[in-house]
Amino acid sequence: MLYYKQLKVLFLLIILKSCFFAICVAKIGFSTKTPYEFIHPPQKNVIEDDWYNAHTDQYTCGAVHVSAVIRHGARNPGESDSKRIANIHMRIKDNIKDGDKFKLLKDWTNQFPVNNNKNLNDAGENEQHHLGQRTARRLKSLFLEEDMSAVQFMVSSAKRTEDSALAFYEGINEEIPSEAPEEFDSEVNDENLRFHTMCQKYINSVENNSTALKEYKVFGSSDLINQVLEKVIAKLGVEKNVLEPADLKTMFVICGSEMAVFKFSPWCDLFDDEDNEIMQYWSDLKKYYKNGPAYRITWEQSCPLVAELFTIMDDVIAVIERTEEDKDTEGYLLGNMMFGHAETLGPLYAALGLFNDTVPLTSKNYHEQKNRLFRTSEILPFSANIMFVLYECEENEELLNDEEEEDDNPDDDYRIQLFVNEQPMLIPGCKNLLCPYTDVREWYSDISDDCHFEYLCDPHKKMHNEL
Ligand SMILES: *[C@@H]1O[C@H](CO)[C@@H](O)[C@H](O)[C@H]1NC(C)=O
Ligand SMILES: *[C@@H]1O[C@H](CO)[C@@H](O)[C@H](O)[C@H]1NC(C)=O
Ligand SMILES: *[C@@H]1O[C@H](CO)[C@@H](O)[C@H](O)[C@H]1NC(C)=O
Repeated sequence: MLYYKQLKVLFLLIILKSCFFAICVAKIGFSTKTPYEFIHPPQKNVIEDDWYNAHTDQYTCGAVHVSAVIRHGARNPGESDSKRIANIHMRIKDNIKDGDKFKLLKDWTNQFPVNNNKNLNDAGENEQHHLGQRTARRLKSLFLEEDMSAVQFMVSSAKRTEDSALAFYEGINEEIPSEAPEEFDSEVNDENLRFHTMCQKYINSVENNSTALKEYKVFGSSDLINQVLEKVIAKLGVEKNVLEPADLKTMFVICGSEMAVFKFSPWCDLFDDEDNEIMQYWSDLKKYYKNGPAYRITWEQSCPLVAELFTIMDDVIAVIERTEEDKDTEGYLLGNMMFGHAETLGPLYAALGLFNDTVPLTSKNYHEQKNRLFRTSEILPFSANIMFVLYECEENEELLNDEEEEDDNPDDDYRIQLFVNEQPMLIPGCKNLLCPYTDVREWYSDISDDCHFEYLCDPHKKMHNEL
């Protein structure tokens, strides 16, 4: 739980720090619209080879491969949110009585392009560029003097993922300059990275099913949300019927999106810390039921992605083993960088058994869930990322001398470590951060080796193991 303690400290720092300056803009979080650097403030000293070298008492390891799944960086709001906020803005402007109050809000204009491209913006590009740089720095010896064609980039059909991948790639190249950088190349794969649009059973039973999202809907008309609405209405000094709960959601989305790009948003000023916390819970409920651990099909549909992760790592190991016998074998992938969406990463977390609260999030247990694991501003901000670093390990010398015989169990040669949003994280089932690859492979074999996407996603078929 070290990870959460660290995050808490970071948050405190952010809140304190942002309040030293003229306005106390930065609050706690904006759910999935949280700018990445809120949870991961830019670090000055990223240690070179920090992730490249790893060891336990018994083993000394060096990285041979990294596989990553990365959400796209900060993006512009979509067309529907842009239209909604324009409408809300008009209603508020027409109804504010006190002329001086909320001048910034009254003078506000939408600076995002009003189209439905949801494109990556400058803030998102920077997030990805910096993430690429930091990743390359921490794994420097893995990439140094290597051909960048040994790093594979996979994206979804949404342009923001390709733009993210390119910015990340440029970040790597900045950290590890080469004479003639390879031209950037990526492969589109929606089954791995946008499965939520291809899995009809998921669409029918979860995404397009209001019963499945009931807790989220119920919370929208709860006392807590109405209390936020009343406070916002009182602050603005407008009539009660000018705003409704759904408007709060749009205002919250725009607040987060503007914070990412402009580091400031007059929409955020309408929510105090308590309101912010309630708004976060509302958004978290939606993600929990729509893209989180709540329904089996939601995380099962990520099986092509889980399979891709392990197939590539299996292959890396197989090639290394062959090379040890025959020096002329082909190379292997040093990196497998995949760029997707919150709808990719949320199900992947659940499939891996991460951030799954013992007590489900419901419309009734807001207070009880204060310390929930499934807090999207922390786990699913823009540019959220999960990285598996694969290591080849050798037993330490002293131990070899002490023992009669060398323990020649090849299973211990390869180990794996997980980083979530750049923090080391224990893989469920492992005793140590550095976990034997074969164990991890075995734990996830059900989902990765038994993946029949078409069958799984056929709304007319029932799986044998379903309730
Ligand atoms: C909608 O969700 C509810 C609750 O999970 C479920 O009982 C129902 O079968 C779902 N409907 C469809 C069409 O799958
Ligand atoms: C969602 O459900 C509605 C009816 O409840 C249906 O008309 C619509 O086609 C469905 N959308 C998708 C994407 O399946
Ligand atoms: C989440 O945890 C609950 C309760 O411990 C468990 O029943 C469920 O299977 C878990 N879900 C996932 C996706 O791991």
